[in-house]
Amino acid sequence: MVSVIFPAAGQGKRMQAGINKVLLTLGGEPILVRTLKTFSAVEEVGELIVVVAADEVTAVEGQLQKVSGLKPFQVVAGGSERQYSIYNGLQQVAAAADVVLVHDAARPLVSVKTIQAVIDTARAKGGAIAAVPAKNTIKVVDAEGLVVDTPPRSTLWEVQTPQGFRKDILLKANEAAVADNFLGTDDASLVERIGAPVAVVQSDYRNIKVTTPEDLLVAEAFLKCTAE
Ligand code: CTP
Ligand code: MG
Repeated sequence: MVSVIFPAAGQGKRMQAGINKVLLTLGGEPILVRTLKTFSAVEEVGELIVVVAADEVTAVEGQLQKVSGLKPFQVVAGGSERQYSIYNGLQQVAAAADVVLVHDAARPLVSVKTIQAVIDTARAKGGAIAAVPAKNTIKVVDAEGLVVDTPPRSTLWEVQTPQGFRKDILLKANEAAVADNFLGTDDASLVERIGAPVAVVQSDYRNIKVTTPEDLLVAEAFLKCTAE
């Protein structure tokens, strides 16, 4: 059985919507609901763990109870950093889960195909992350603004979510990060530092994270074209 943790406890500072950005409407439906419906369409997914700010738990719970067709869900309080929100969610994962996925609630355009590929690869390899080949040349730049290196673009991938791991590996990685006071920018970075393998699963460019107001326009446009 697969458990999915959805971090949704951020402040949406770059969106400046005045409300939690994952409650904004996209194609007539809150972003969070759209995301949860897509995961609910995946057979192996057994539970949804939604992490929101402590003062939003009751309201979000009430809102989700009105939505039909969702897999069993729970809403729990997050922390001040995304990684702490995940940590809180991890404490609630069912004993029956063998694989845990983490997916930004703010990525409502993820496909079932990508979710399934991440589950299968996580089970086979221990860890798997959705990603797309970098389109732009990327430079390493020092503190003075001088270019230090140009890594070959063919080796660079832009990482998204879902990121999936065997449960024991993700738990171990998070405990190690807490013990060492390590704060990563994604979940896989915690797993990489305990020496466990992480495989890349090719996703698609539609799986954007709704971060700034223009991302909403882009997401609406993607919604209008038929899904692959
Ligand atoms: N998130 C979280 N807990 C935090 C910070 C972020 O659960 N302490 C969640 C967000 O709600 C979002 C996802 O992690 O679904 C990705 O983070 P991001 O896009 O950066 O969202 P925000 O942190 O809300 O936005 P901003 O950085 O602009 O404030
Ligand atoms: Mg943030």
